[in-house]
Amino acid sequence: MIRLGVNIDHVATLRQARGERFPEVVAAAHAAILGGADQITVHLREDRRHIQDRDVELIREGMAIDLNLEMACTDEMVAIATKIRPEQACLVPERREEVTTEGGLDVAGNRDTIAETVKSLKGSGIAVSLFVNPDEASILAANEVGADAVELHTGTYANARGDAECVREFMALRNAAVTAKTLGLRVHAGHGLDYRNVWRVAGLPEVEELNIGFAIVSRALFVGLTQAVKEMREAIHKAREPAEAMS
Ligand code: PXP
Repeated sequence: MIRLGVNIDHVATLRQARGERFPEVVAAAHAAILGGADQITVHLREDRRHIQDRDVELIREGMAIDLNLEMACTDEMVAIATKIRPEQACLVPERREEVTTEGGLDVAGNRDTIAETVKSLKGSGIAVSLFVNPDEASILAANEVGADAVELHTGTYANARGDAECVREFMALRNAAVTAKTLGLRVHAGHGLDYRNVWRVAGLPEVEELNIGFAIVSRALFVGLTQAVKEMREAIHKAREPAEAMS
């Protein structure tokens, strides 16, 4: 069964837009779980533009649910993660001026820092996933620095226009998934996935986990978060059925 991590950063984006105390992120986490989320994913950014430290603490303390903390490779974030102890940390590149995470980690170019971060987190019992572009060099480098998993960046696939481009980007994801699995890495995927494009990625038998945020939170405006998560689970399940029948 593929795991679904629901990223609730944008519930906090709404709250921060007005500097209010609501909507409460931990309430969103409860609603997502009722809809079938297997884990809650949050990105505690250096600039705290959406998720705040308190949100992460409340989710951790108040809920018996797996927490996936997306974080940059900085001393500050490593200190927070080792205190909070999420089940998993997903290391992402972070630039202040970006609207959202724009590309995968340059693992080869930051090998020492990333290897050290992976070691510290794993030493605290936190599984480590690296958010990488779906290319062989990134997967090999992720394996070399000791990651447990890679989260394949699906943004280029999600933004592809027309069948040919879509299939080309999907093939890159598929090849990267096979390479990662062959090396013994767990394979996750996320970014830009929505109700219409998730099927191809969810149908890849190597993929064990998807992390999806914006599409679910947007849909929640119209149907509520629990229902929005249920609908995503159904979309994933439909795509997954043939792969599961074969395994
Ligand atoms: N995975 C990672 C590593 C991300 O940085 C994000 C965005 O925060 C997501 C998944 C979720 O992306 P989206 O909000 O586009 O579904």
